[in-house]
Amino acid sequence: MTLQEQQQLEETYVMHTFGRKPVELVRGEGMRVWDDAGNEYLDFIGGIGVISLGHCHPALVKTLQDQAAKLMHVSNYYYIEGRGELAKKINDLVKLNLSCAHAEDWQTFFANSGAEANECAIKLARLYARRQKEAEGSDARPQLIVTLERSFHGRTCETLAATAQPVKQEAFSPLPTEKLYVPVPANDIEALEKTFAEHGDDICGMMLEPVQGECGVYPCTEEYLEAARRLTREHGAVLIFDEVQCGMFRCGTPFGFQHANVQPDIITMAKGIAGGVPMGACAARTRVAKVFEPGIHGSTFGGSCLAIAAANTVLDTIEAEGIAQNVEEVGAYLREQLAKLPHIKEVRGLGLMVAAEFDDEIDAPAVVLAALDAGLLLNATGPHTLRFLPPLVCARDDVDALIARLHDLL
Ligand SMILES: Cc1ncc(COP(=O)(O)O)c(C=O)c1O
Repeated sequence: MTLQEQQQLEETYVMHTFGRKPVELVRGEGMRVWDDAGNEYLDFIGGIGVISLGHCHPALVKTLQDQAAKLMHVSNYYYIEGRGELAKKINDLVKLNLSCAHAEDWQTFFANSGAEANECAIKLARLYARRQKEAEGSDARPQLIVTLERSFHGRTCETLAATAQPVKQEAFSPLPTEKLYVPVPANDIEALEKTFAEHGDDICGMMLEPVQGECGVYPCTEEYLEAARRLTREHGAVLIFDEVQCGMFRCGTPFGFQHANVQPDIITMAKGIAGGVPMGACAARTRVAKVFEPGIHGSTFGGSCLAIAAANTVLDTIEAEGIAQNVEEVGAYLREQLAKLPHIKEVRGLGLMVAAEFDDEIDAPAVVLAALDAGLLLNATGPHTLRFLPPLVCARDDVDALIARLHDLL
């Protein structure tokens, strides 16, 4: 089927929730994808930060082929191979930098997406606060969650309510629970202290992206994460890090927050965790996680045999191939090279989660379109901002090719 035929079918039969680029992608390998006409593209968006091992990594392909032929799905009523192992790997990654080897264990709930992982985190935060109050003999129900302005936490009604971007909420406003979220400006410790002083007793948690992604890659400072930790602890609220985009080695460390010396209570992840197979996960300290009992939360598809096998292979391959080191090295090189481009104002990010902010003369969405003809898949998060989330196996040569082509385009 040609691109034009595909466009006509989608025009009629697919909901128009995305402004698609005029290209039909049919095949991929490593950093490259090809369209139906055989044109090659260097992929610097990686399925929006999902394709961690690169397209069609042989280890992941083999795992999926073998698992598909063995057992795909049986539901969460049964034990399956690999689920416990994967949850232990997540526990070990969370506790990687902790000096105390006996630090509290973490438990994980497996879902299918980032939004679902965040739904789980929000439910956990509210239920944990309720149980804490019950234990104190109080019938108070702290429900408020502090979030950051410009945050992005998903598209379900609840996670959209938590997403402090009026433009995304507008069509559905008033969202049933939007009053349960209190957005504060990122990296403003004074404003955060004021919010906790004002709403303290009603706050059950604070949810933030250690590196804000969707709004154009803005890292939180270490001091800010420390203040969030201190204030949540002082008020008996949980600290939730949404690592859906910045986690799973995207920033070089297993999780984005590990660039700071702060431990949250709940971590959500998705995107790169299973290399392209849908998976979300919400991990929590056992103390918090244990408020969940059988029947209280669930998912039909979450943690299917296929997704679990994929995620185990992704994490094993990242370790076996030294991919974290590659992310640190090539990410630094990418930022250094972007900073030399004409019209550049600022380069932000950690590891291979990077944004380039250009001056007003550069129309980023137009660059993204023109880049297709130059064999590049790019992404704009604003009128003058490009965001780069390439596969974690991106090499210096790929960066050189990107920079040369971008230079011509600009
Ligand atoms: C930080 C963050 N949280 C949550 C989500 C929602 O994830 P999903 O689209 O898998 O539901 C995203 C998606 O981009 C994200 O970047």
